[in-house]
Amino acid sequence: MLIDIYVSNTDFKVTKLWSESMTAASMPRSSVTPADLTITPRDRRFGRDEAAPRWWHGGNPYASALYNALSATFPEGEAFFVESVRQHRGGVDARLAREIKAFTTQEVIHSREHLAFNRRAADSGYDLSSLEAQVHKRLELTKTRPPIASLAATMALEHFTAILAHELLADPRHLGGADPATAALWRWHAAEEIEHKGVAYDTWLHATKAWPRGKRWTVKAKVMLFVTRNFVVDRTAGALELLRQDGITGSKAVANLLWYAWINPGMFRKIFTAWVKFFLPSFHPWDEDDRALIAVYETSGNFAAAKPARTVRRAG
Ligand SMILES: [Fe+2]
Ligand SMILES: [Fe+2]
Repeated sequence: MLIDIYVSNTDFKVTKLWSESMTAASMPRSSVTPADLTITPRDRRFGRDEAAPRWWHGGNPYASALYNALSATFPEGEAFFVESVRQHRGGVDARLAREIKAFTTQEVIHSREHLAFNRRAADSGYDLSSLEAQVHKRLELTKTRPPIASLAATMALEHFTAILAHELLADPRHLGGADPATAALWRWHAAEEIEHKGVAYDTWLHATKAWPRGKRWTVKAKVMLFVTRNFVVDRTAGALELLRQDGITGSKAVANLLWYAWINPGMFRKIFTAWVKFFLPSFHPWDEDDRALIAVYETSGNFAAAKPARTVRRAG
């Protein structure tokens, strides 16, 4: 019912976007990855020196559970993204090849830091194994399909990640009250997700360049619907499992978690319009140039809770 209300409220906006896009689709593409974009791996380490509180997100078990459930997906999920993109890098132009290398380096470091974060969650008493097993199951199933299916899933999930990252940096309430070192980890990850948001999409455009437009759109739309359904269901179930380990169960756990995720601060609700734009025929992740959020992040002292940069092993 909540979703129905929200959809009807945004109906006009979505219809307008669709109509504008259909007009744009008949014109040459004008919005692609910015020519002056630089993807810069920032080799940072977070929260190594002290144990994070169990409810690191301002003492809020629901917020902590949702972010912990998300983090549980990253080590294996981001390795899958890298593998899927690199499988299709043959024949890309020199610029995209450079971007794929930088994307790979960023994701490898993200996996390392979220592995460390997940270990801290385990040290504080959580058992993430069932959440990790669910991610593994989903990815193994995808790998049984042709490699282009893995790239399509990666392209859709990278957009999903980028719009979550945008919202995270745009609204300080999402990390308000959180443990500083842990908040710094999430902001750093968000900034780099925005920075490389076009890489999987451009690789997808390259890999499917011989496809008819209709087939390309149909596959990407179906894949986005599929991965969104799995993302929302699996992350909600994962967070509820962690809350169960906290002794918080039943309707109280469900209601408070859904309130946090969909209402206040309502991350899932707030990305809805950006999510819908993915389905526009002329869509490209850089239709919205939100590098200003990265610039604000880099100049606002958010690195303060991170260790200084170290030498990074670049992707080959
Ligand atoms: Fe990442
Ligand atoms: Fe990413």
